[in-house]
Amino acid sequence: MAIANDEPNRLAIDALGLQPTDRVLELGFGPGWGLRTIAARVPDGQIFGVDQSDQMVRQATSMNEVAIAAGRVMLVKGLFSPLPWIDSTFNKILLVNVAYFFDSDGQDMAEVYRVLKSGGRIVIYVTSRETMLKWPFAGSGTHRIYDRKELLDLLEGAGFRPSDIAIKDLQLPLRIKGLLATAVKSRCHFSSRLTPEPVIGPRVAPARPG
Ligand SMILES: C[S@@+](CC[C@H](N)C(=O)[O-])C[C@H]1O[C@@H](n2cnc3c(N)ncnc32)[C@H](O)[C@@H]1O
Repeated sequence: MAIANDEPNRLAIDALGLQPTDRVLELGFGPGWGLRTIAARVPDGQIFGVDQSDQMVRQATSMNEVAIAAGRVMLVKGLFSPLPWIDSTFNKILLVNVAYFFDSDGQDMAEVYRVLKSGGRIVIYVTSRETMLKWPFAGSGTHRIYDRKELLDLLEGAGFRPSDIAIKDLQLPLRIKGLLATAVKSRCHFSSRLTPEPVIGPRVAPARPG
């Protein structure tokens, strides 16, 4: 499955628009290739990763040994929710081939939104519903799967504004169809989950001149 992972990782990392001092989070880093690529592009920043698997933490640790020893890459063994960081910690967040494992209540995505700074960017890659349904190991029974609308709903549900979201269709090798979403957290943001009903007051007639 290397082809299914390498190209999406490369495109998603490019879409992050990394800067040398970024503080970046990768959710579900797997073997750690993405972390290594990010660390090479963020020489003066910090890169954090979270993954629930002991085996993946071991592999990613050995792939990123030097950057970990230098204190530039930090790995956490844990779940997508709750994340062990305070609000607005990161200015870039990467999720490649992980949103299939998000809960249907939106809690995992709400955590991602919470730890992203205002003005920060998230990039999500998922293989599209159409392709996933053809793979015996990746159906809707085991994975949460997405078409363009479902991916948009995931992001909007967490609080991203539709005008701050862009979703690209990708045509990858082996006829794999993918979706690459980029979203920026608005500087005057709100969470659609937390916003109370608007209070509608009595209409007040405008004052008449004179
Ligand atoms: C398909 S792999 C993707 C790995 C990597 N992003 C890549 O593209 O090569 C999904 C990763 O998410 C991790 N994962 C799945 N569910 C998780 C959860 N609820 N909390 C934390 N990690 C999870 C798995 O351990 C695995 O490493």
